Amino acid sequence: MRLQGRTAIITGAGSGIGRASAKLFAEEGARLALVDRDAAGLEETLRLVGEATTHVGDVGEASFAETVVGDVVSRLGRLDILMTAAGFSVGGTVLTTSVDDWDAVFRTNVGGTWLWARAALPQMQQQKRGSIITLASQLAIAGGKGNSAYIAAKGAIVSLTRTMAVDFATDGIRVNAIAPGAIDTPMLRRSFARHKNSDEVREASRNRHAMKRFGVADEIAQTALHLASDASSFTTGTVMVVDGGWLAA
Ligand SMILES: NC(=O)c1ccc[n+]([C@@H]2O[C@H](COP(=O)([O-])OP(=O)(O)OC[C@H]3O[C@@H](n4cnc5c(N)ncnc54)[C@H](O)[C@@H]3O)[C@@H](O)[C@H]2O)c1
Repeated sequence: MRLQGRTAIITGAGSGIGRASAKLFAEEGARLALVDRDAAGLEETLRLVGEATTHVGDVGEASFAETVVGDVVSRLGRLDILMTAAGFSVGGTVLTTSVDDWDAVFRTNVGGTWLWARAALPQMQQQKRGSIITLASQLAIAGGKGNSAYIAAKGAIVSLTRTMAVDFATDGIRVNAIAPGAIDTPMLRRSFARHKNSDEVREASRNRHAMKRFGVADEIAQTALHLASDASSFTTGTVMVVDGGWLAA
């Protein structure tokens, strides 16, 4: 059991990558606090995980992050792992994205990383140990069409991950990002459904990967487990690309 005795907070645990990571972390012995704004999604994850606390709210709310971290520390005495998987996208170029959508995408993706790291870091500093895992995207490196707010937000997460890694490296805290390719989750399906020619867009996306398939959430969870565990003890400030060869192709 690679996470025996470890305590983890996972945001976005009500679906997709967050849910798969929660399941895998629990199997590896971690005690979990699961965070999402979707109460029903969290209940479903809890059913798969067995035992955990669930916390329903908006990850862009600073007081929510402080409350959940405070609850975990007071109940379990420590916080070893923070995984910030809550995120969403709205399609659109700079010209076709509303200011409200721009703000909302940054609030969840970037705010939901910065605020939760900010709440978790003091406890991790005190312990002299911690692993923070953020969710970027292969698009933060490659760019992409018609997804300007999301791609900009994921780029910000890469930069934030690196700067936090440097700032807290000597405190025993490691900070790494995962940059997935297209992973078959509800978010990916919603993003295809936005297009009139959704079948065509889906197939083009599938074929853009060298492996000619989408990833599955568990393939990202396995990378998250590596970054959460001591197997990655000399890894910090990296962007782990898990993209079926998208960037290489
Ligand atoms: N699926 C992909 O192809 C893909 C590729 C690259 C990166 N990612 C990133 O991985 C992460 C997980 O994505 P996924 O595919 O599992 O998506 P998903 O939609 O299946 O799950 C995301 C979860 O985040 C929650 N969430 C969204 N906004 C929230 C908020 N403000 N407060 C609280 N919870 C909120 C949703 O309710 C949902 O349960 C995201 O950051 C996403 O950008 C996904």
